[in-house]
Amino acid sequence: MKKETLFTHTGRPKAGLATTVNPDISRASTLLFDRAEDLYRGDIRTYGRHGSDVHDQLKKAFMALESGAHAALLPSGHSATTTAILAMVKTGDNVLLTDGAYGPTRAFCQSYLPKIGVTTTLFDPHIGEDIVELITDKTSVILLESPSSLTFEIHDLPAMTKAAKAAGVTTIIDNTWSGGISLNPLKLGVDISVHAATKYFGGHGDLLYGAIISADVKTGAAIDAYVKSIGFATSPDDAYQVLRGFRSVMPRFRQAEATAMQLAKWLEGQDAVHSVLHPGLESHPGHSLWKRDFTGGACLFGVVLNPVSAKKVLAFINGLELFGIGYSYGGYESLCIHCDPQLRRSHADKLAGPLIRFACGLEHADDLQADIAQALSLLK
Ligand SMILES: Cc1ncc(COP(=O)(O)O)c(C=O)c1O
Repeated sequence: MKKETLFTHTGRPKAGLATTVNPDISRASTLLFDRAEDLYRGDIRTYGRHGSDVHDQLKKAFMALESGAHAALLPSGHSATTTAILAMVKTGDNVLLTDGAYGPTRAFCQSYLPKIGVTTTLFDPHIGEDIVELITDKTSVILLESPSSLTFEIHDLPAMTKAAKAAGVTTIIDNTWSGGISLNPLKLGVDISVHAATKYFGGHGDLLYGAIISADVKTGAAIDAYVKSIGFATSPDDAYQVLRGFRSVMPRFRQAEATAMQLAKWLEGQDAVHSVLHPGLESHPGHSLWKRDFTGGACLFGVVLNPVSAKKVLAFINGLELFGIGYSYGGYESLCIHCDPQLRRSHADKLAGPLIRFACGLEHADDLQADIAQALSLLK
């Protein structure tokens, strides 16, 4: 079944006599029982932290997204990533982390994991099958992200997961960029896919949410055990909003994806631009891997400007009228940020000029293009 159909029909109540279209929101900490005998049963929910019907329906939608065997729900995308890591490591382990990881993931691995005796080794996102050379008997997790945050490198996922599987190492990918719509990493051998549902599934810049999709039930059970012991829970209202986002995510994603492609192609021909970081462009170093493994793009891409002063970069961003200045992506409003203050890389050459990131929303692509054109004139 195609995703459009799946997301319309998954996670809904069965039609009966005058049933609602969507699952009900039931808010609870206490769950009441009419028999004391049932309080300690292990086969049913006994407390609000264990979720509700709307949470169950949302889990079904996330499983359907990537044909996963299990889904867990977390209060933010970042907590989904850190939870997946923490569920899979123990003291003495080593984590292999892509150099292109989302900044807070890198910070977590480098500043928090050492406190529990877990070390991190950064690798070049282009490493491919050579990842095998970094795997030791201490390696428990390889953390992937493709494309990289900010710099958009593409991994050779099948080569990397083959090496990881042979060594018994768990692979985790931050799959937020593709929304699970243009990349299914579980089909390429990845064990765990994490999402900041804050982006496309929230879709309106007004909530934070995360999900962990596991390829098999054993991995899913380990995630559940960790989530239960650490005590994470999400509100039924937020779960409802994310499930609501699923219903319309395909047309929203497709429009933003097409807009990003139009703008990326057009920007490549602009005088002020050194290069455009979008794997859908033939000029992108990861284009052939992207063509092989992905079914499309996303709303987000980067632009390296020709060298220009930091003051002019700020003038460019401040000069945009339709792009909000702010973090995140996947919402209905287009956003733009300058990236250099947050860019940390150990395995990449310095970029040729300042890096800008565009997140396309649902405005008309031609209006966004005209807006960027007028702001580019400020760089002259
Ligand atoms: C690639 C990626 N992963 C994870 C996150 C974290 O998501 P959240 O803001 O829901 O914690 C973000 C947020 O920008 C992101 O871009």
